[in-house]
Amino acid sequence: MSEKNMQPSRFLFCLISISMFILILSSVFLLQSSNSSFIPGSVFRLILANNTLAYFQTNSISNSDRLPYLSSPTSLIDTRRPKSRTRERACLGSYSNKMGALGEGSGKVCDSNQALLKVFMYDLPPEFHFGLVGWKGERGQIWPNVSNASRIPLYPGGLNLQHSMEYWLTLDLLTSNTPGMVRPCIAIRVMNSSQADVIFVPFFSSLSYNRHSKLQGREKVSVNKMLQNKLVDFLMSQDEWKRKGGKDHLIVAHHPNSMLDVRRKLGSAIYVLADFGRYPVEIANIKKDVIAPYRHVVRTVRGDSAPFERRPTLVYFQGAIYRKDIGEKFDESSILRQGGAIRQELYYLLKDEKDVHFTFGSIRGNGTSRTGQGMASSKFCLNIAGDTPSSNRLFDAIASHCVPVVISDEIELPFEDVLDYSKFCIFVQASDAVKEGFLLNLLRGIKREKWNEMWERLKEIVHHFEYQYPSQPGDSIGMIWEAVSRKISSIRFRLHRQNRFRRSQLMGRTK
Ligand SMILES: *[C@@H]1O[C@H](CO)[C@@H](O)[C@H](O)[C@H]1NC(C)=O
Ligand SMILES: *[C@@H]1O[C@H](CO)[C@@H](O)[C@H](O)[C@H]1NC(C)=O
Ligand SMILES: *[C@@H]1O[C@H](CO)[C@@H](O)[C@H](O)[C@H]1NC(C)=O
Ligand SMILES: *[C@@H]1O[C@H](CO)[C@@H](O)[C@H](O)[C@H]1NC(C)=O
Ligand SMILES: *[C@@H]1O[C@H](CO)[C@@H](O)[C@H](O)[C@H]1NC(C)=O
Repeated sequence: MSEKNMQPSRFLFCLISISMFILILSSVFLLQSSNSSFIPGSVFRLILANNTLAYFQTNSISNSDRLPYLSSPTSLIDTRRPKSRTRERACLGSYSNKMGALGEGSGKVCDSNQALLKVFMYDLPPEFHFGLVGWKGERGQIWPNVSNASRIPLYPGGLNLQHSMEYWLTLDLLTSNTPGMVRPCIAIRVMNSSQADVIFVPFFSSLSYNRHSKLQGREKVSVNKMLQNKLVDFLMSQDEWKRKGGKDHLIVAHHPNSMLDVRRKLGSAIYVLADFGRYPVEIANIKKDVIAPYRHVVRTVRGDSAPFERRPTLVYFQGAIYRKDIGEKFDESSILRQGGAIRQELYYLLKDEKDVHFTFGSIRGNGTSRTGQGMASSKFCLNIAGDTPSSNRLFDAIASHCVPVVISDEIELPFEDVLDYSKFCIFVQASDAVKEGFLLNLLRGIKREKWNEMWERLKEIVHHFEYQYPSQPGDSIGMIWEAVSRKISSIRFRLHRQNRFRRSQLMGRTK
């Protein structure tokens, strides 16, 4: 080889060596800077650690903020949406006993980026909400001051309370903006509706039905009807409603007869309901609506809950054959066939048994505490379909740590996507329950050990069925907000799919 040929190849060798050196140097430098935004530090450690899954996982939890592509894949698509947080909280919060995940906001001030759900609430005049509980504000004041818990306006007691979630949810939103109030940071009220995940309609519809559905004096239209019609006029004129045709609106209509006159007109909204018994499926269904627990009327057993041996009554039932006044629009004979008839048949089957308490009569006033005592000293409490598939009796049983026996084929249960009711309830089909001996054989066959398992589970989940002010981690209010958040993401999913072939959007943008 000649000198002429040697020179260029040596030069090339040097060039390659130098550039290799620079490349190695720069990549080491790059990998070591842990806060580099496009190669997180944990990736570096991940490579060194041989890509073991265990390392990967522990790291991704503790350094979730450094692994954005792992902890929240959706954030790359739409940063405003809290989908990933929804999933995490739903799993952590509702299954485990460690309710810390739900309450992680307590103690700190809740801000809208931290909250699971951003809620815009219409400033409806007080006649729709706190006016109905007798509250009068200053001139022009729409909402009561909720910063002192002992001064909040009270909801009427007795059986009204069963459907009081309209009140607790509204209070919770007001509290979310009140400095110094400690509550779980799940829902937060935002003042700009374009930033909200859901639009809350603060109408106390159940109280309006319970208190104002009869004509007073010379009225031509009841207050309940008037308010519903006014509400429809109001909503139809709002940009918020027009934007998605009401699909992101949340309306609480827990009493089966509340919103009776306008439920069809507002049917695109998400309803918070007790069950679907009096709704056609196109207006309310489990796909879009949320089932909320009744507020129990008996007192929650705290501390000393009687064990198996100290519950002398095997089965407890107290109720009416006809539970609620039935609107004219419903077919009474079919209701009788479904509900009342089963109660009556069971009554004849069970009434002569020594360890069975089965009486008819509504529980008013003094009756409530007697019912509470009765349930708390019974092993099993019956929930039999009445004129509606659901009733507060299930939640009274849970509050009394009495294992519920559900005989209601059409019942919908609150939060069933995160709670497995079969772990603490017994379900019996109506057709089986009315067979002679079936129910008693079944319940007598459940021995102490099996019963204890259900009883222990009951004590773990009972706090999911409490309504209180201010809200506590894992209680009904938080559970409802979480359920709403899950509905919102599935509603959004359907909306986005519908948008796939909407060319008009594209055309509009290019013009
Ligand atoms: C890397 O993987 C190999 C084979 O799977 C294993 O023998 C070795 O111990 C691993 N090294 C580290 C640091 O985990
Ligand atoms: C609410 O009441 C508290 C005292 O209980 C008071 O400090 C606060 O200023 C009030 N807030 C409003 C908006 O009036
Ligand atoms: C809350 O209201 C009660 C009763 O009106 C009053 O006694 C108490 O001092 C108030 N607390 C605060 C922190 O303002
Ligand atoms: C509300 O939010 C939207 C989007 O974030 C923004 O464009 C708009 O200016 C906001 N409106 C007000 C009154 O702040
Ligand atoms: C409630 O029941 C108790 C005994 O159970 C009775 O002494 C009391 O008079 C009752 N009160 C009312 C208002 O009926």
